[in-house]
Amino acid sequence: MDKSNGRVLLTGGSGFIASHVLDTLLDAGFQVVVTARSEEKGETIVESVKPHQLSYAVVEDIAKEGAFDHVFQTQAPFDYVVHTASPYHLNVQDPVKEFLDPAIKGTTGVLRSIKAHGPTVKRLVITSSSAAILNPGNHPEVYDETCWAPTTYEDAINHPAKNGYRASKVLAEKAAWAFVENEKPNFDLAVINCTYVFGPIQRKLASLEAMNTSNHRVRNMVQGKNKDGLDPTAPVFTWVDVRDVALAHLRAMTVPKAGGNRFYVAGSYFSNKQIADVIRERFPSLADRLPADAVDDLPGDVFRFNNRKSREVLGIEYTSLEKCITDTVGSILAVFPDV
Ligand SMILES: NC(=O)c1ccc[n+]([C@@H]2O[C@H](COP(=O)([O-])OP(=O)(O)OC[C@H]3O[C@@H](n4cnc5c(N)ncnc54)[C@H](OP(=O)(O)O)[C@@H]3O)[C@@H](O)[C@H]2O)c1
Repeated sequence: MDKSNGRVLLTGGSGFIASHVLDTLLDAGFQVVVTARSEEKGETIVESVKPHQLSYAVVEDIAKEGAFDHVFQTQAPFDYVVHTASPYHLNVQDPVKEFLDPAIKGTTGVLRSIKAHGPTVKRLVITSSSAAILNPGNHPEVYDETCWAPTTYEDAINHPAKNGYRASKVLAEKAAWAFVENEKPNFDLAVINCTYVFGPIQRKLASLEAMNTSNHRVRNMVQGKNKDGLDPTAPVFTWVDVRDVALAHLRAMTVPKAGGNRFYVAGSYFSNKQIADVIRERFPSLADRLPADAVDDLPGDVFRFNNRKSREVLGIEYTSLEKCITDTVGSILAVFPDV
């Protein structure tokens, strides 16, 4: 590998958000090692961005004890670690195995491995979520980085579909802050609490079925699955473009005063009707796949949020919904023209 701005370990390299974080890191001149669950996935990622400064390491299951140790033992030194890997899907059967263990043990595992085997690491950036902030049952006056979702481990066990993912994010993030507080490692921590993320599909997406969860509603509209009526937008009415999220990760890594902070990364409000309107206007050939008489269900008294810290410290200028949805649909049609 050639000279660079530094070496970064990026976990979950096959993911949607990681795909864009990777582009942003490479464009900024960093050498990157991604983790992937198999040789095949790792090779695919590296092939897709040649001739950049990129390699991969296999981490089959982030929930396993010491899962990341071998990466540091064989690929160090690293200057930064960005931990995006964590499950996000809607078909939960076993909340412990599918959500809580990989999220919580994966996060504490990264922290332990850095402390034990990564003495050169200056900062860890973790992809948390607005799921670790929001409390839909009792909204505060304004959401910001001081807010924490009240969801517990027991909530996840009792209502896996409703609380499994939410609990995994809030408990993993709390575990990370507790580790830093208790262990006082040589590196610091910054956390990205992004809200619902839309944007161009990830590199080398194998099929429309394999698409990341948060882009499903756009995919479904393009496929005509909502022709007879849009799904309710609730409970989350805020969204952000994946390219803004990727830039937020880069800046959280490099801006000195970002260390020790959470960042609520949320662009603006949306409803499914607003997404459908953009698709209809920008892709007239898809108009007959969309409902003609959809109602905008964005509540007049929707919860308020404050994203000032992400704008002022990270310098994020949020992308418009129109551009994001246009680019997302364009990226789907470019790869799957017969959608
Ligand atoms: N998309 C959103 O709207 C959104 C919003 C807020 C926060 N987030 C957070 O952003 C991060 C990335 O999400 P995404 O939307 O990019 O989802 P994604 O495309 O499904 O990516 C998830 C990544 O985590 C990896 N992973 C999951 N479980 C694993 C395990 N047990 N062992 C090893 N790797 C594992 C996946 O590997 P495989 O590809 O091999 O399965 C994939 O690389 C997550 O932490 C998520 O909670 C997402």
